[in-house]
Amino acid sequence: MKQKVRKAVFPAAGLGTRFLPATKANPKEMLPIVDKPLIQYAAEEAVAAGITDLIFIIGRTKRSIADHFDKAYELEAELEKYGKHEMLEAARSIVPPHVNCIYIRQADPLGLGHAVLCARAAVGPEPFAVLLADDLIDGAGGGCLKQMVEVYEQRGGSVIAVETVPHEETNRYGIVQINRLSDRVGRIETIVEKPRPENAPSNLAVVGRYILTPAIFDMLETIERGAGGELQLTDGIARLLDREYVYSYNFDGKRYDCGSKIGYLQANVEYALRHPEVKNEFAQYLASLQQG
Ligand code: UTP
Repeated sequence: MKQKVRKAVFPAAGLGTRFLPATKANPKEMLPIVDKPLIQYAAEEAVAAGITDLIFIIGRTKRSIADHFDKAYELEAELEKYGKHEMLEAARSIVPPHVNCIYIRQADPLGLGHAVLCARAAVGPEPFAVLLADDLIDGAGGGCLKQMVEVYEQRGGSVIAVETVPHEETNRYGIVQINRLSDRVGRIETIVEKPRPENAPSNLAVVGRYILTPAIFDMLETIERGAGGELQLTDGIARLLDREYVYSYNFDGKRYDCGSKIGYLQANVEYALRHPEVKNEFAQYLASLQQG
C-alpha cells in the first residue's frame, strides 16, 4: 500500500533579491495577489489536495508567515466589536481547524535543496509535497497539487510538475529529459539545473510543485554546492534518478512566475479581473487606460 501524502513543505527562506526593497523586511511569499498573500494560495492548494500538515521553512524575515497563519486575537476582537463579520471571517479562515502548521528556521539561505533538508525531522519516513509559493498556479480540477497526488497514487514514486518554456529561458529553470508515458506523464531520465540553451536537453522546465519520496533526504545529505553556489534540490533529484523512478507531470493549469516582477503583475491583473469585489470596476479602469 502506498503511503498517503499528508505533509507539505513550503520553502520561504530565500532572499527574494528580485523584489527588493519589498522583500527587505518581508518574505516574497507574503506579497499579495489582490488581497491574499502568495503563501496562502499555496497553503489552500495543499489543503485542497488532502494535506494536513503544513511545514514552513522560514528565514531572516521569520515572523510574518507564522503571524499570518496564527490567530490574531486583537484584530479579531476589534472586528467583532464593530460587527465586521465578513472581514472577521477573512481573518479567521486562513486554514481549516484540522490542519497543523509547523515552522522551521533555515538560518542561512544555502539553497532550495538545503531548505527542503531542514524539513527532514518534521517529515519523517513518508512521501511529502513541496510547494514554492512564488509559482502561483491556477490549476484545473481542484489544483495542481491535487492532480499530482492522483498521479502519485497511480504510479508511486516522486512526481515533479513541469511546463514547456521558450528555449532561450532554460537557464532560469531545472530542465528535464523524459520518456513520455502518457499525454501528461513522463519518466524523467535526466535533470539539470539552469543549463544554457545550447546545453539544455529539452525545454521542459521544472516548476515549483513536487511530490517526493523520503529517499530524497539521503540524496540531499550528500550533494555539494551546485549552480549559484547553492545546494540545489535539482541535484538531489538527479541522484534519486539512479535509485527510483521519478515522474514528470505536465499539469493542467496556468502558472504565474510571481518571483519575477512581470509574472507578479500579470497575476494581479488576471486575479483582479476575476475577483467578485473589484472585477467590474477594475475592468472599466483598464479599458479607460486603453482609450486614454
Ligand atoms: P529562488 O530561486 O526564487 O530564490 O528560490 P530567492 O532567493 O527566493 O529569490 P531571488 O532569486 O533572490 O529573487 C526558490 C524558492 O526556494 C526558497 C525561496 O523562498 C523560494 O520559495 N528558498 C531558496 C529557500 O527557502 N531557501 C534558500 O536558501 C533558497
